[in-house]
Amino acid sequence: MKAITQTLSEIVSQAFEIAGYDPSLGTVTASDRLDLCQFQCNGAFAAAKLYHKAPFVVAQQVAEILQNDHVFSRVEVAKPGFLNLTLDDSYLLKQTNTIAQDPHLGIPQVEEPAMIVLDYGGPNIAKPLHIGHLRSAIIGESIKRILRAAGHTVTSDIHLGDWGLQIGLVITELQERYPNWRCFSPDFDPAADTVEPLETSMLNEVYPFASAKSKTDANYAKKAHQATYDLQNGRPGYIALWQEILRASVTDMKSNYEKLGVTFDLWYGESNADRYVPQLMEILGEKNLLIESEGALIVDVAEPEDKAPMPPVIVRKSDHSSIYATTDLATIIQREKDFHPDKIWYVVDNRQELHFIQVFRCAKKANLVPPQTEFAFLGFGTMNGADGKPYKTRDGGIMKLEDMIATVTAGAQEKLEASSFVDAADYEDIARKVGVAAIKFGDLINQRAKDYIFDLNKFFSFEGKTGTYLLYTITRINSILKKAGVALEQIAPITHVYTDSERDLLLKILMGGDVFQKALTEKAPNYLCENAYQLAISFSKFYHDNRIIDEPDPEKKQSWLALIALVRRVLCQHLDLLGIEPVEHM
Ligand code: ARG
Repeated sequence: MKAITQTLSEIVSQAFEIAGYDPSLGTVTASDRLDLCQFQCNGAFAAAKLYHKAPFVVAQQVAEILQNDHVFSRVEVAKPGFLNLTLDDSYLLKQTNTIAQDPHLGIPQVEEPAMIVLDYGGPNIAKPLHIGHLRSAIIGESIKRILRAAGHTVTSDIHLGDWGLQIGLVITELQERYPNWRCFSPDFDPAADTVEPLETSMLNEVYPFASAKSKTDANYAKKAHQATYDLQNGRPGYIALWQEILRASVTDMKSNYEKLGVTFDLWYGESNADRYVPQLMEILGEKNLLIESEGALIVDVAEPEDKAPMPPVIVRKSDHSSIYATTDLATIIQREKDFHPDKIWYVVDNRQELHFIQVFRCAKKANLVPPQTEFAFLGFGTMNGADGKPYKTRDGGIMKLEDMIATVTAGAQEKLEASSFVDAADYEDIARKVGVAAIKFGDLINQRAKDYIFDLNKFFSFEGKTGTYLLYTITRINSILKKAGVALEQIAPITHVYTDSERDLLLKILMGGDVFQKALTEKAPNYLCENAYQLAISFSKFYHDNRIIDEPDPEKKQSWLALIALVRRVLCQHLDLLGIEPVEHM
């Protein structure tokens, strides 16, 4: 199904054509003066220039043709040449009922589906999963769902940080503490020897300790670099230990991501790209892109139009170890080979933008992908605390994701205890969903690239733009439908428009396709958050103005029930696109 402005543009374009003007002038947009009209077309201004006529005259000619159309109840020309359009209620109803029947519930489908690799999440193993990675997971999950809803094929890849210095640090510290472990022996035999099982709680303690120590102890830092190098060069005991670190970390991550409703098709990491590094070096060598600099190999990626100096990409350090850019470039080779994607998009912290510009330029220079392949960096801002600085726990540490989920679940539970609708047995499940909805919506409502303040009190409010308010609105609709004995998922025709608040709801539902398209084009879930909120507000007004259950007129009651059932489906659809799970009651 097309977005409504698209459908209306076709109708108005035809009118322009009939009046003897270029049809491309008939673009219709949502009105920015809802008090005057629902839609508008400003094509008469461009027509006036092209055809040397007054815009008012052109608009009037077009309006005359449109007046005969059953689509509009009002076609008005406002000086100096605006075309103000208001839909006829019967057309509004017809279109909304078509949305209700549409398998995509009004989401326009792309004509040419693309194959997109979406890189998000990006946690580092051996380090506790902390809230710095929360935004990537939340935003990436939503963008994935939006792309898929439009008909694109998306493969999501978590791209674990599993091959860098942090592993060398953990190995070094474990070796200091347990020098007798077999894995540290140079004659470790993977076929015969085993590795000690590790707990994530232990890793969570070891990594920060080792990282801090390496900053004050140069010798220790050197050992960690050596261990990283040995690991990357396949020392058997280190590989075996690394596999155990990976296993323990990933098990823990999976359970946390699951609680957040975030999933990945691929659990690849930097290590999976390692086998493509020789190929990468060969390609860069063949293309004469490698420059030696102080023992390291670099690629110049500066371009004449650069306004600021563009540092070269280091692809091999002087100690021959790979670094972040190396694994990202090698991963591009791997993705090209496995998926031949049309697009590779990365949802990563804004602070890494330069790294990605360098990587994209290097990949294009080396033809690692065909020229038409699109790279995009979907950067996001920082999650700040009330002090405007990156969010920290009370004691100044970085909050672990696990603790964050526990905190929001407890916060939601406190709120729900006042509710008589929730059985004690359901508390925990509902509380977790409400808590997760609160943080996800609190994040996604912000423009992606902007910093925002993480404020749980605000996120938990039952009023305003919050996930809590949206979940609550859905539960209110659920209870009306249940009281009326109607199935939650019922699809029935809406037959009349009795009041303004209904018209408003219908129009918001109708605009859903346009909002979706905006979110898709700009890769911006915040439009969906805003729209869901606006729809919930309109519902509240409608609910406040009308007594649905007690309505004596059966036809009216039935039409209203059909309308709120559709509102519910559209709200649930929005939440689904945001990666938020509704609750049945709360
Ligand atoms: N692990 C990285 C970090 O914590 C993020 C990875 C982002 N994705 C990528 N392909 N580099 O900073």
